[in-house]
Amino acid sequence: MERTFLMIKPDGVGRNLIGAIVSRIEQKGLKIVGAKLMTVSEELAKTHYGEHSERPFFGELVDFITSGPVFAMVLEGENVVEVGRTLVGKTNPAESAPGTIRGDYGMTVGKNIIHGSDSVASAEKEIALWFKKEELIDYSLVN
Ligand code: CMP
Repeated sequence: MERTFLMIKPDGVGRNLIGAIVSRIEQKGLKIVGAKLMTVSEELAKTHYGEHSERPFFGELVDFITSGPVFAMVLEGENVVEVGRTLVGKTNPAESAPGTIRGDYGMTVGKNIIHGSDSVASAEKEIALWFKKEELIDYSLVN
């Protein structure tokens, strides 16, 4: 079954949005197979955002994501990478439709509340980077 990685960023945690966001994920029908509140080391931040290392905002991005705790999650479901991206919305909250997480809660591209894997390949890479195998749980939903 497909898996994806979502991470509520320090602005989302700081604004007490963990519950609201997790609620949307559950209501949509996605299965949470891993979740943790954690701080992000500079090394993890730089690896996670490696593809942006030449961008002018890279330093700002690393400073922001290491500035406070994040809530990291692994979700499972059919086509879950695409479904997760749809729930999250576009990178720039200004272009993100109401009803999406960024569209409802975000205002700026730098502080856009949540990260979601953008492809199956990056989901696999990000899950391996953020979670140990034993932190992910296989179980059947009772519903
Ligand atoms: P995310 O989906 O976590 O992946 C890369 C992040 O870079 C993105 O969300 C934005 O938060 C951030 N980002 C993209 N463009 C800019 C920008 N112009 N200025 C600051 N941050 C940006």
